[in-house]
Amino acid sequence: MTADEVWQAIREETKKRAEAEPVLASFFHTTVLEHDSFSSTLANQLANDLSNASVQPMMLRSVMKEAIKSKAEMITNIAEDLIATKERDPACKYFSTPLLFYKGFKALQAYKVSHWLWTNERHTLALFIQSRCSEVYGVDIHPAAQIGKGVMIDHGTGVVIGETSVVDDNVSIFQGVTLGGTGKETGDRHPKVKEGVLLSAACTILGNVEIGKNAKVGAGSVVLSDVKEGTTVAGVPAKEVGKSGKTSPADEVDHNIYKN
Ligand SMILES: CC(C)(COP(=O)(O)OP(=O)(O)OC[C@H]1O[C@@H](n2cnc3c(N)ncnc32)[C@H](O)[C@@H]1OP(=O)(O)O)[C@@H](O)C(=O)NCCC(=O)NCCS
Repeated sequence: MTADEVWQAIREETKKRAEAEPVLASFFHTTVLEHDSFSSTLANQLANDLSNASVQPMMLRSVMKEAIKSKAEMITNIAEDLIATKERDPACKYFSTPLLFYKGFKALQAYKVSHWLWTNERHTLALFIQSRCSEVYGVDIHPAAQIGKGVMIDHGTGVVIGETSVVDDNVSIFQGVTLGGTGKETGDRHPKVKEGVLLSAACTILGNVEIGKNAKVGAGSVVLSDVKEGTTVAGVPAKEVGKSGKTSPADEVDHNIYKN
């Protein structure tokens, strides 16, 4: 599916949802149906969520739109995150659900805007967005962190991703995950998470350690050293408890939006 096809699906779903639930008809109208593009609806929602008494939605909306339109791959990457969430979360039946209701998805897209601001030397506004995401969504991602596409942050609550973290494509991250420093290092001090990794609920990964491709980290584990590709680790401190194999535990299905 292309990003445009995802947007068309969102519109069709939303029309049906508005008819089926009259109480939310005006909500569906203002969030989706009155917009002419995926970027417009997303920018509008993020701006409404993240504005406050001092920074009006209108100001944030134009920044969000500018960021989302800054390069062509931005909207395709956003669509890949949305597809990843629908494909991997069995509770997610519609493309419109993460866009309207999932704070993990929305926080990840707000991070993309803050990262764009950060790389364009607009650090203060980037930090404002980080801070508002933390307050509103309970997700705290430093704008300098590097996060790929096809990433799912499920539930979102309590996720913390530090400044020098790198998260590759097609990673799944559950609530309460910390990618943090040990407190003993400076500079490049945060984890590097390779493609296809599953970071289970409330796992804590500390230091500049590498979580190898397609690895699984068990719920509640504390990881303090490198995790080999294709292994499952669990416990405190985490130890190898099995093999996760060659395929991605984060993504059992093909959600590649370019497959057509
Ligand atoms: C790690 C995990 C992915 C399972 O991987 P798996 O390869 O299927 O591992 P198994 O279930 O076969 O367990 C292997 C061993 O690790 C242990 N183990 C598994 N998960 C563990 C965890 N989180 N903490 C401590 N030990 C754990 C098992 O007890 C088992 O030990 P044993 O060999 O002594 O019996 C899973 O246990 C897990 O943590 N899932 C969390 C998913 C999640 O975050 N869900 C939130 C949805 S809201």
